[in-house]
Order: sequence, then structure tokens, then C-alpha cells
Amino acid sequence: MCGIVGYVGHQSAQEVLLGGLEKLEYRGYDSAGLSVQHDGALESIRAVGNLGRLKEALQQTGDGGVAVLAPPATTGIGHTRWATHGRVTEENAHPHYDPGNRVHVVVNGIVENYMELKNELQAQGAHFTSETDVEVIAHLIANDLDEHGLVEATRRTYNRLRGHYSFVVQSSEEAGVLVGARKECPLIVGRSEGEQFLASGIPAFLAHTRTAQALEDDELVVLTADGARFMTADGVEFERETHEIDWDADAAEKGGFETFMLKEIHEQADAVAETIADRTVRPDGVDLPELDDELLRGTRRIIIVACGTSYHAGLIGRYAIEEWARVPVEMDVASEYRYRNPVVGPGDVVIGITQSGESLDTLAAMRLARERGATVIAVTNIMGSQATRDADATVYTRAGLEISVAATKTFVAQVAVMYLLALRLAELKGTLDVERRTELVTKLKRIPHDIGELLAHGTDAIDRVAERHYQQDFFLYLGRHVGLPVGLEGALKLKEISYISTDAYAAGEMKHGPIALLDQDTPVVVVATDSPVLDKVISNMQEVRVRGAHVIAVASEGTDLAEHAEETLSVPPTDWMLQPLLAVIPLQLLAYRVARLRGLNVDQPRNLAKTVTVE
Ligand code: AGP
Repeated sequence: MCGIVGYVGHQSAQEVLLGGLEKLEYRGYDSAGLSVQHDGALESIRAVGNLGRLKEALQQTGDGGVAVLAPPATTGIGHTRWATHGRVTEENAHPHYDPGNRVHVVVNGIVENYMELKNELQAQGAHFTSETDVEVIAHLIANDLDEHGLVEATRRTYNRLRGHYSFVVQSSEEAGVLVGARKECPLIVGRSEGEQFLASGIPAFLAHTRTAQALEDDELVVLTADGARFMTADGVEFERETHEIDWDADAAEKGGFETFMLKEIHEQADAVAETIADRTVRPDGVDLPELDDELLRGTRRIIIVACGTSYHAGLIGRYAIEEWARVPVEMDVASEYRYRNPVVGPGDVVIGITQSGESLDTLAAMRLARERGATVIAVTNIMGSQATRDADATVYTRAGLEISVAATKTFVAQVAVMYLLALRLAELKGTLDVERRTELVTKLKRIPHDIGELLAHGTDAIDRVAERHYQQDFFLYLGRHVGLPVGLEGALKLKEISYISTDAYAAGEMKHGPIALLDQDTPVVVVATDSPVLDKVISNMQEVRVRGAHVIAVASEGTDLAEHAEETLSVPPTDWMLQPLLAVIPLQLLAYRVARLRGLNVDQPRNLAKTVTVE
């Protein structure tokens, strides 16, 4: 998983590419590089680390360096890398090139048959300069360049590759030409007068144009300053319709917050409001026109597959669907589901939850289920993402673009969709009476207001907890029923941005093992919002306290837990089943404050990437 960008036009390619890469850095930041065409030659620069390191390298290049070329090059390609094959080194950074330096390529994805191709090329005397799987692409295209030209050489090479990838290539032999190709990794064309763009994501060119064309699997595109020519991998040319992007250009900016994560935490009221808006117009029910009523009415079993935070949203969905609609729900992490030869087929509904719509494990699980005859529903935040293509139907979350690697607003939007789905099912199946449906719809519609209140009331208690415990090397999280996925999500947030070890357990399970971890200093975060199991949770809090550990309780306002906890993080009261939408927020903020106190980059935690398109 990486970000790629290409530009051909009249502006400084270097500036356009760097601007584009800034918007794609969330896809990976192990290294970055760019390559531009200048006076019939290709010049590239690469640096280990994030984009800032590439910019530093550009400033240091001095005479002859890419940064000081005049007039500036107007065609080029750029890359930001998340390492898969090959260590994080400058040699393994993109762009990659052939031995004659005639072909430069930037790639997102994995070439699965690269060893076979590399062996073949090496047998012909080729010398490789990187350990990556994708350098073969530059070699293969270069080998065909003289005989077939860049476009045909790229098409031929594309047809020799196996795996999932998108790439953009340029050659010193064909000035002002870029060729892009796509297989299961995103690649979007941006169109403008006298200049064209190619990128892994729309934000990369949104500052220049709002007119876009999506490239589909097994398609190539040839860009020149004057336009774009589309063709299939078989070489058949075709027209592709354009569409206008209506995203707010500011959506990708921090909007006054110190980090994207903090901005996104504060956008959660809007994320829920947008997601439920037109779907909760009726006072006593939910409308999801995306889903076929007959399908829902006839559903006898649901299977939810997802990864990471999306998995936690699915867990909450399971409680809601079983409680309200009385449909059995099976839940699995996508990377396990796909390899356990699952019993699934016609009559089953499989829901794949993925904010990016591109997580390879989730896509693979969805495809497997579909191949076996199940009906597959995608829940995703990204319009036109792969998940939407692999599914029979899609329910969009409407959280807006999420930049920070740690998911926050997309999580609450996913949970909101799961509640909508559960309510719709319950109505169609007649398992919830009209009074209870009305009560839940009313309270769900109030959640954006509750989130606003929660965020407006300050974070004094959270700050105190963070100050006291940020140097700890372990936190335990406990919860029961819908409080358990909230605890799991809080623990994931803390570990991924603060690098503190965490464990999250069903509170009732603590006595079966994790209790041994407790000592005088252990912070134990307990999700103790109002619910029919609150008394049980309070008993578990006591078990923690008598061992001297520190209890930090997330509680509903109006419930006094002072005698059971050192610190209470209060959330507005709501229906107990809906509490996760509020209870998760103090845990996001706690993780955030702890990470900041430890001086860490919360938006780009080490070793992680926003979109995980590898196994
Ligand atoms: C969330 O904070 C994590 N970065 C990660 O667990 C993420 O939720 C997971 O990779 C799934 O991503 P998806 O929703 O895009 O499929």
C-alpha cells in the first residue's frame, strides 16, 4: 500500500507532485520519491522517511538537482511508500527504473510473480538495484520500448503481471506522456484544461481540478497535457465518463486543530448526523433504500467480517442486530474468516465493514462469501471503492475524508450504520414494537447533539488521567456487553498511537487470567455506562480496586461511581444500547492525550498505514 501520483501539463511538476503526495501520505510514509522529465532525460530523487525528508533532500540537491531545474519540468510521477517487499531503504524507494534509466515507474500494490519475472530478466543479464517486487515492471517495459513504444510496452508488461497493483510509468523516449494501469488498487484520473493528473486518491489533485475519471481493473490510461486515452488490457480503446467531485477542498486540511486526529474526533457529531440524516426521517423507523426489503425480511443469518476498528464496529452491530431483530450474527476478523473454509452460502447475508473499502483481508472475505452464494453488503466510507464493486449492495457511512491513521469518526459512523441496519431489520421482521422503535430512533437522532455536548464540556478529567498515567507501560480495558467492543476500541486506539501495551477483556473474564497482571500502578479503564449489566461491571471494578490498581470508569452522567473508581469520565445518558457512540469518545481522547504527552506523531503512528492493501 502506497500513494502514487502523476502529472502532465504546464505547471512545475515537482510542486504539483509534492502537493499531491502530501494528501496521500496517509497511505504510507516509509519513503518518498519523485521523477520528472527534463530535456529528454528522467531525473529522480528519493529519500527514506516521510515527505519532509524528501523535501529536505530536494533542498540539498544543489546544482543539477531536481529542485533547481529551470525552466521547471512539467511532467513527472511521485510516490509515498509503505514497505512490503524490501526493507525501508533509499534503493527500495520509488520511482524504480531500468538499467538504461529510460523507464521510471511508481507502483502501489504487489507483483506476486515477480520472482519468476526477475529470474527470467536476470538470466538475460539484467542487474537489479532494489529488493522490491515491482522493479521488474521498469525492466520489462524498457525491454519492449524500442520495438513497441511506451504504451504498447506497458500494456504487454501489464499482461505479464500477477497480483494486485496500480502503477504510473514514464519514459525518456516519449516526452509529455504518462501511462497508468490498474488492477485492484485505486487509480483515478483528474482532468483539466491543458493538464492531467493520475493518483491513488482524489485529494491528491483536488486543489487543481474537480473533474475525475475512475480507472477500473484491467484498464490502462495514456495521459498527455491535452487529454486522456483509455484502453482495456486487451488494447481496445474506449471512452470513460467524467464525474464532478463535490468534496469540500478544506476537508483534507486540519481546520485549525493541531492534528488530523483531533480534528476528526471533533467531527464525530457531523459524521453521525450525516450518516443517519435522511435515513431517520420517519419517527418510528429507519429507511435504507440501498437494501432490498425482501432480502432483509428473509435474512436468517448474518456474518460480519472486518479488520481492526471496523471489526469493533461490527461487534457492536452484532449486539444490536441480535437484540432488536433476533437474527443470529456471526462475527470474524476478515483475515481469519477467509482461511477457515467457512460454512457460508445462499441465504446468508455477509456484511463487510471497511472504512477505506480497500482492506485486502476484508475484500477477500467478501469475495469468498460471494463466490459461495451469499449476498454481500459493503459498509464503507469511500465512494466507488473496491468494496462497493465487490458487494451486491452498499450502505455508505458519511464521515467525510479521514486522514489520521487512527480511525475515529469513521468508527462512530460505522456504528451508526449498524444501528440503522438493526432497526430496519427489526421493523421488517416485526421484532420490535413501534414504541421501542420510536424511542430508539429519537435517541439516535439526539446522538450528534450529545456528542457535541460531550466534546464541549472540556476534558479536565481525561487530562488528569493522561497526566497521571502516560508513562505507564501497560493499560487494561474492561467492559461487558456493548461496553466490551468499546473497551477493545479504546485499547486499540491507545496502543496504535502511544505504543503502550494494552489488553482488553470481557470484564467477567478478568478473573480467569488477566487479573494476574494487576499491580499497584496498573491503570484499568472500565466501560461502566448504564446498562442491565452495570452491577456486574461494578463488582469487577471492586475486584480491581482491592488489588490496588487504578480504576478509570467511563460512566453515564447521573450515575455516581465515585466510590468504585479513582476517576470518572462522564458521557451524556442515552439508551444503553446506543452508549458506545458516546462512551468511545473519552477513550479516543485519552489515547490522544497520552500519545501527545509522550511526544508522538499521532496522525502517522510508526509501522501503520491508513489503508492496508496487503495480507
Ligand atoms: C484503526 O485505527 C486502524 N488504523 C485499523 O485497525 C483499521 O481500522 C483497519 O485497518 C481496517 O481498515 P478499514 O476500515 O479501512 O478496512
